Amino acid sequence: MLVVKNVSKTYNSNVVLKDVSLELKKRILGIVGPNSSGKSTLLRIIAGLEKPSCGKILFRDKDITRLNANKRVELGIVYAFQIPRPFYRLTVLENVMIGCLIRNGENIRERAIKICKMMGIDHLINAKAKVLSQGELKLLELARVIATEPEIILLDEPFAALDKKNAKVVKEKLLEFKRMNYRMLITAHRFKILRDIADGFVEIKEGKIRRYHVEG
Ligand SMILES: Nc1ncnc2c1ncn2[C@@H]1O[C@H](COP(=O)(O)OP(=O)(O)OP(=O)(O)O)[C@@H](O)[C@H]1O
Ligand SMILES: [Mg+2]
Repeated sequence: MLVVKNVSKTYNSNVVLKDVSLELKKRILGIVGPNSSGKSTLLRIIAGLEKPSCGKILFRDKDITRLNANKRVELGIVYAFQIPRPFYRLTVLENVMIGCLIRNGENIRERAIKICKMMGIDHLINAKAKVLSQGELKLLELARVIATEPEIILLDEPFAALDKKNAKVVKEKLLEFKRMNYRMLITAHRFKILRDIADGFVEIKEGKIRRYHVEG
């Protein structure tokens, strides 16, 4: 499905990823590792937001290394920002409708409302994104991602900066995504928080894959 093949990344002389190879075979792969180990860089490279210094990204046996992030969203590879980046001056519904625009079709407003309901933010559809709390922004970010009808969702530390209550809500949503059969690649500092969600794990340290727990 998705293959990362011998990817390295160097910023100036700082080698951030060293010959990283992994494969998303099943549904949900957790990528675990300490600060600065290269998790976000790897996810950004898969999303097309960053170019690898060498190596390839394959999706359905096609080399997508040279495709930009927008093209990858069209293919179904969508990145959820660690710090959500909605259009703050637009409403919640407008933000989700923009996500829907990537696919043709009608009833964009209805589709967006349905997604807001699923994410539990339908009471906020007319609120401007700038008034949302951290937890609500995270749910909006996930709604925006779902609106693009993704095949693979790339989630960079989805629980970071959330309190316990909001982390629990986000976890419930990710479990719901799992039941809906979305494929996901999720980063986290520690294994424990992803235990119920991921089917498999890789551990990354200083830019190198150290350990496969179970292949995901
Ligand atoms: N745009 C950039 N320019 C230069 N160096 C960068 C850039 N992005 C990341 N780095 C460096 O790459 C290394 C890995 O960073 P990355 O953000 O991928 O790690 P991470 O595992 O996501 O860390 P964290 O757990 O803190 O989010 C760090 O040393 C960081 O300083
Ligand atoms: Mg990171």
